[in-house]
Amino acid sequence: MNWGSSQGYQDPTGFRILGLPDDGTMAQYVKVPVRNLAPKPAHLSFEEAAALPLAGLTAYRALISRAQLKKGEKVLITGIGGGVALFAAQFAIAAGADVYVTSGSDEKIEKALKMGIKGGVNYTHMDWSLSLKKRTGEFDVIVDGAGGDGMDALFDLAHPGARIVFYGATRGNPSGLTTRRIFWKQLNILGSTMGSPEDFQGMAEMIQQHTIKPVIDKVFSMEEGEAAFRWMDDASQFGKIVLKIQ
Ligand SMILES: NC(=O)c1ccc[n+]([C@@H]2O[C@H](COP(=O)([O-])OP(=O)(O)OC[C@H]3O[C@@H](n4cnc5c(N)ncnc54)[C@H](OP(=O)(O)O)[C@@H]3O)[C@@H](O)[C@H]2O)c1
Repeated sequence: MNWGSSQGYQDPTGFRILGLPDDGTMAQYVKVPVRNLAPKPAHLSFEEAAALPLAGLTAYRALISRAQLKKGEKVLITGIGGGVALFAAQFAIAAGADVYVTSGSDEKIEKALKMGIKGGVNYTHMDWSLSLKKRTGEFDVIVDGAGGDGMDALFDLAHPGARIVFYGATRGNPSGLTTRRIFWKQLNILGSTMGSPEDFQGMAEMIQQHTIKPVIDKVFSMEEGEAAFRWMDDASQFGKIVLKIQ
């Protein structure tokens, strides 16, 4: 809410997220400004539409508005089990890119292969980035929400002139970075957070145009809210976890 007037960044003082610091959407009623409402895409169920706004918007801005992904480019999306990552993969496939992923789970990579990604690698394996580079070569675009000590490997996997978008830091800060790789390869390092109303509009149009359906892992009732959080803690989900108001 209150993105502000710049397409480049959110209003540094007025920007708020439903859920941070305001109460979020685990509620029977939520009050939002009318200008923030959008029609539900007709091909989506209410559960699918509920899965869309935050993760879909973040993925769209990172991949389309910030990285400016083009048809035929080779893109790497890390941690495909993540909500944003899965949307990014769906958008990248729809945009005609060659999409590769990482995951800590071979099973999740198998599921992503069924969605149309070209290949994946398990980041828990030793030298995962070297084996990926041997198979695929370097990437034009990389989308990452993990950060931490995995960042250096991403700079190594990037093609000279590549765009690398960071939208999260699940792994925290890196203990070190090979700065030389960034300037020698002329890398474009981009940060991305949520998205503007224009990004939201663009995301909704992309969803409609390509009849993209959010991947839903599990739907819980509101009364099962705690179980839903425990399920998320377990990290075995592939897709969004939705709370349904009966
Ligand atoms: N900037 C923004 O506007 C914005 C918006 C939403 C979220 N975020 C941030 O983005 C991050 C992801 O959020 P999310 O809700 O999409 O994810 P999520 O559903 O919480 O899942 C996190 C994912 O991180 C992946 N992961 C864990 N360790 C990893 C590693 N070493 N390398 C690569 N991936 C790893 C896992 O993928 P696998 O299960 O495949 O192993 C996991 O599924 C969080 O840090 C969140 O705070 C930022």
